[in-house]
Amino acid sequence: MNIGFIGTGVITEAIINGLIKSDYSIENIFISLRNKTVSMRLAGLSSIISVFKDNQEIVDRSDVVIFAVLPEQAEEVLSQLNFANDAHIISLVATVQIEKIRKWSSQTANICRAVPLPSVADHNGITTVFPPNERAEELFGHLGQVVPLETLEAFDAFVTAGATMGFYFDILETASQWLSKQDIQYQDARCFLSALFSGLAETAKNTSDLTFSELRTGHSTPNGLNQQLSEDFRAAGGQDALVKALNSLQTRIVKDA
Ligand SMILES: NC(=O)c1ccc[n+]([C@@H]2O[C@H](COP(=O)([O-])OP(=O)(O)OC[C@H]3O[C@@H](n4cnc5c(N)ncnc54)[C@H](OP(=O)(O)O)[C@@H]3O)[C@@H](O)[C@H]2O)c1
Repeated sequence: MNIGFIGTGVITEAIINGLIKSDYSIENIFISLRNKTVSMRLAGLSSIISVFKDNQEIVDRSDVVIFAVLPEQAEEVLSQLNFANDAHIISLVATVQIEKIRKWSSQTANICRAVPLPSVADHNGITTVFPPNERAEELFGHLGQVVPLETLEAFDAFVTAGATMGFYFDILETASQWLSKQDIQYQDARCFLSALFSGLAETAKNTSDLTFSELRTGHSTPNGLNQQLSEDFRAAGGQDALVKALNSLQTRIVKDA
């Protein structure tokens, strides 16, 4: 398999780091020069990675093209390229619908969208794919779990919930800053909270028969400390604020598409 990437940024670097550590059968990985720092770093990782200044060369040499530029760059970049009638394109570009990708690239190409998470680098990711697509599912299946989705509504809903990544780190930072104010070194706070949340994530992964609500109850002694914190947060509007933010983001995603 020859895999090409147009756009060599954060997510491309994560995918390639995952691919070269995987047992997926790849002959070549072709990447665009931009971003130069990232492409040079990647080129040093493996002899199967080649860098091209001209995006068309990547398209011409690849069995599958992974399109990973920013939404506002997508039309300009794609419109300059010629794709074979049977090209395979996996677009990672957030909020840009397949109809637009098709209009800017090829009417007959096999096109799907995917949202991999950065942890694909460690084969620990989960990637949503819309619509279900054999090639994309096989590729990302080597980098963690894959969720093929039949409807755009479901795909957009997962995109919305996936945007809680930044919020997750906000929780860690807020708790770390609070600990720092209690004269705890930031690094000690960071170490404690990373281990705490990593353990909880493992528990959640290993107890798929339990709901998160059941896990919360299981981790909260009646009238105990965890229960109090949870209830205080809810009473202060914490949960409502998150649902409001999710609804607002969903509206934006549907409107932008
Ligand atoms: N980061 C994530 O976790 C994630 C996850 C799933 C999907 N996505 C989506 O994937 C896309 C890329 O995200 P990202 O975080 O990787 O962004 P990024 O780091 O900003 O990468 C975008 C890349 O596109 C390059 N580029 C711009 N114009 C180009 C051109 N004409 N030809 C070739 N390359 C060009 C940029 O190069 P320069 O730096 O030189 O401009 C940059 O390397 C976005 O649409 C995003 O929504 C991101």
